[in-house]
Amino acid sequence: MTLAELEIARSQSLAEIAAAGDAAAVEALRVKYIGRNGSIPALIKGMKDVPPAERPAFGKAIQAWKAEVEKALAEKGLGDKAEKAVAADLTMPGRWFTLGAKHPLSRVIEETARIFGHLGFTVADGPELENRFNNFTALNTPAHHPSQDRTDTFWFNDDCLLRTQTSPVQIRTMLANKPPIRVICPGRTFRRDTTDATHSANFHQIEGLYVDTKPVSLADLKSVLAYFAREMMGDGVKVRFRPHFFPFTEPSVEVDFSCHVCKGKGCRVCKDSGWIEVAGAGMVDPRVFGFVGYDPKAVSGYAFGFGVERIAMIKYGIPDIRWLYENDIRFLSQLA
Ligand code: PHE
Repeated sequence: MTLAELEIARSQSLAEIAAAGDAAAVEALRVKYIGRNGSIPALIKGMKDVPPAERPAFGKAIQAWKAEVEKALAEKGLGDKAEKAVAADLTMPGRWFTLGAKHPLSRVIEETARIFGHLGFTVADGPELENRFNNFTALNTPAHHPSQDRTDTFWFNDDCLLRTQTSPVQIRTMLANKPPIRVICPGRTFRRDTTDATHSANFHQIEGLYVDTKPVSLADLKSVLAYFAREMMGDGVKVRFRPHFFPFTEPSVEVDFSCHVCKGKGCRVCKDSGWIEVAGAGMVDPRVFGFVGYDPKAVSGYAFGFGVERIAMIKYGIPDIRWLYENDIRFLSQLA
């Protein structure tokens, strides 16, 4: 074939492709020109018979032709993928997308914000990376307290740690605002716990803080927590305070809800006691007010801290905390 003949074949092939009316015709032209036994591969194979002096010009012309044919076929929407395109079966069932559900921890946090919202509490936020002052010192926790120990807390350096509780958000809120203060502070917290069915090195708390220039009492705290218990767990849930110790509250209590499963009679969920521990709480220690520049004689308040996993586990009957982190859709979809 001479270059002139090649030029004729080229324009003919492009005209044929342009005129092809359906997918089958395009496919037939693909086979005719660039298929394994098509005319262009045959010309490439025949290159060895072309006189050496003409080879470069001839080779170039064939490659250009091939590229044009491919482009023209592709513009017809088929080209190399012709077989696949023809094989698309529009009667096949569509791909099935399963809808997710809100995670139980998010649901507990949102529900808590809603309940305390009714009582005039707003949501405050703080960083997961804290300093010693906010996480310990201003919370009246001395350097020798076991919670400051390297074996209990993730320290980055002498002053920087992963917060062990949401209580530092109390400090941040008081430093930035004047009383009255009513906030809840949900968030992620970290302790050097080994993970088992009820512990995780990374868990969530919801802090609550109320400070006012009017006298605030332990009875106020109890009534607010009783309201929260009923809203979160259902009617009839009672609240019990047990004396405890926290460095930043005085007096301090641990808070139990009566077991919502057996109504306080005793069952597996409450380990036969009729009560389930859910929070730490107490009246804000005057020394904490001193650390944030409030006059301890002029203000009073209460604080509490819930474990979010705790509430989720008892509310939804989840026996193992690890299920909350595994992202197994078979588990999560049951709570939707
Ligand atoms: N921060 C305490 C803890 O993590 C809980 C708590 C919060 C206790 C507020 C009293 C007041 O155990």
